[in-house]
Amino acid sequence: MCGIVGYLGKRQAAPVLIDGLYQLEYRGYDSVGIAVSDGKKLKIIKKIGRVKEIETARDEIGRVGIGHTRWATHGDVTVENAHPHTCRNITLVHNGIVENAAKLKSECEKRGERFASDTDSEVIAHLIAAEYQGDLLDAVIRACNQIVGSYAIAVLCEDEPARLVCARMRSPLIVGRAKDGLVVASDIPAVAEEGAVLYSLKDGEFAVLEGEKIVICNASRAEVRKEPMEFDLEEGRVDLGPYRHFMRKEIDQIPIVLRQSREEIERNFCFSDFCKVLCQTEYIQIVACGTAYHSGLCFQAALERVCRIPAEVFIASEYRYMDPIVRRGTLLIAISQSGETADTLAAVRLAKRKGAHVAAIVNVKYSSLARLADTVLFTQAGREVAVAATKSFNAQLMVVYSIVAAMASIRGKKSPSLRGIEGKALRAIAAGEGVRSWVPYFAGAKSSYFIGRGEDMCAALEGSLKLKEISYLPSEGYAAGELKHGTLALIEPYTPVVAVLMRRDIAEKTMNAVHEAYSRGASVFLVTCFEEYCGRKEITASVLLPKCPPVFSPILSVIPLQLLAYYTSVARGNNPDKPRNLAKSVTVE
Ligand code: AGP
Repeated sequence: MCGIVGYLGKRQAAPVLIDGLYQLEYRGYDSVGIAVSDGKKLKIIKKIGRVKEIETARDEIGRVGIGHTRWATHGDVTVENAHPHTCRNITLVHNGIVENAAKLKSECEKRGERFASDTDSEVIAHLIAAEYQGDLLDAVIRACNQIVGSYAIAVLCEDEPARLVCARMRSPLIVGRAKDGLVVASDIPAVAEEGAVLYSLKDGEFAVLEGEKIVICNASRAEVRKEPMEFDLEEGRVDLGPYRHFMRKEIDQIPIVLRQSREEIERNFCFSDFCKVLCQTEYIQIVACGTAYHSGLCFQAALERVCRIPAEVFIASEYRYMDPIVRRGTLLIAISQSGETADTLAAVRLAKRKGAHVAAIVNVKYSSLARLADTVLFTQAGREVAVAATKSFNAQLMVVYSIVAAMASIRGKKSPSLRGIEGKALRAIAAGEGVRSWVPYFAGAKSSYFIGRGEDMCAALEGSLKLKEISYLPSEGYAAGELKHGTLALIEPYTPVVAVLMRRDIAEKTMNAVHEAYSRGASVFLVTCFEEYCGRKEITASVLLPKCPPVFSPILSVIPLQLLAYYTSVARGNNPDKPRNLAKSVTVE
């Protein structure tokens, strides 16, 4: 996934583009580039690495420009593959994937055209240049008609230096007025400012920015009227404050996020409507990716244990290719922090086509998922900058557990309470600081294992993913009872194993797995609310958490695991906020 920006106005474009790209680095940071035009010539500066690499371009002269920060999908991380891409009089930046790029590229090459990069994005520049007959918008429309896949593009043409043309298909794109001029961006934070008037393009829409005018139209050039987006200026802007990394700050925000989530749920009438819809539902399917998928597992466990309602959880990228059975009355619940994850959006579109009613639990208000779903519940995590999801996961759990508690009472069943969970989260963070002594066992380990049973396994899966994605250490989350069926063969002396144990009725069973690992030499670490297990001979070190209803316990037991991943990542010299190869929202398949 990548981030694109554009500007056309009274100010010099370069600083506006560069400042906007800083706000989009969470979308990718393999390479970066801008193109700036002074009306006569167009200058392109592009480098490998983060936005700061093009600070030297800040003084470039020109009032029209486009910029791009890249997460590599097609083509290696090289300067040639960095955007912007040019073909003859056309220069563009692109976010998305051209699925028929190989076919289109070979047609261009048969016409004798040569390519400077291995990217699918450059193919779009060639298509537009080939279609250009004096009207840039026409050329863009005709070129887009040939593309299969997703795109958000901003295009400049040397023959029309005062115009900027954009197009959107399944990758987010915003246009509007701000900063004494007209702006284009993949996301609000790049252009949010007091008084800005922003519009979100829909799939198949185009925009022409010229002078002080923005014209939005469809592929037949029929103008499209739009209401401006509402946005929370502060939400768009975040700063580190006294923290070294956003991830550590965002873990500390978990208690306030849980409190705000509770307050929002208590005042939000659609929450109770949402729960009523769920109670009338015969079949519940949950789809998500990554950390959100782990939220789905926690949701399913609680729905079935508390409400005795069956639910199925699917990895979204699997769901969309398994020809899923969507029976009449099926409710599909999509969980997503960004609301832009391509696999989750595709699964939702498929379920809708098959007749499902779609509900979304999403953090980003103006996201594609929020627009696509029939019913939406927003988590209150605020903007999450670190690529590794932390507070957004806890916020998702607060929402799904609140739904479970509400549904239980609608169905006349007794539900455990989430009362006081915010304060317990605060204590979990304080207790979780103890994992700093565990880091030496993990930082040098060639593999690690996170185990648990039931809900504890859900937390273990999430803890393992956190460690992998920011410390780059191999790790596996595992059902504790499953270890002896094969994976135990991998346990060697000093292999670090984390056991999550928040349920008394199966505690001894989990301790059996702990003993199996310990007797093979593993260093076992415990996350539990039962003090009596902390002193067991098998335990190298433990974190003692406040007690909470076992079915809701991942909301707390994940916190020490988030901290363990963070401190291990820092110990290994990584930037936990921007892990290699990853992006905050994966808008490509
Ligand atoms: C979580 O730490 C990862 N960054 C990743 O697994 C993420 O949860 C996944 O890509 C889903 O993203 P979404 O919640 O925005 O859909």
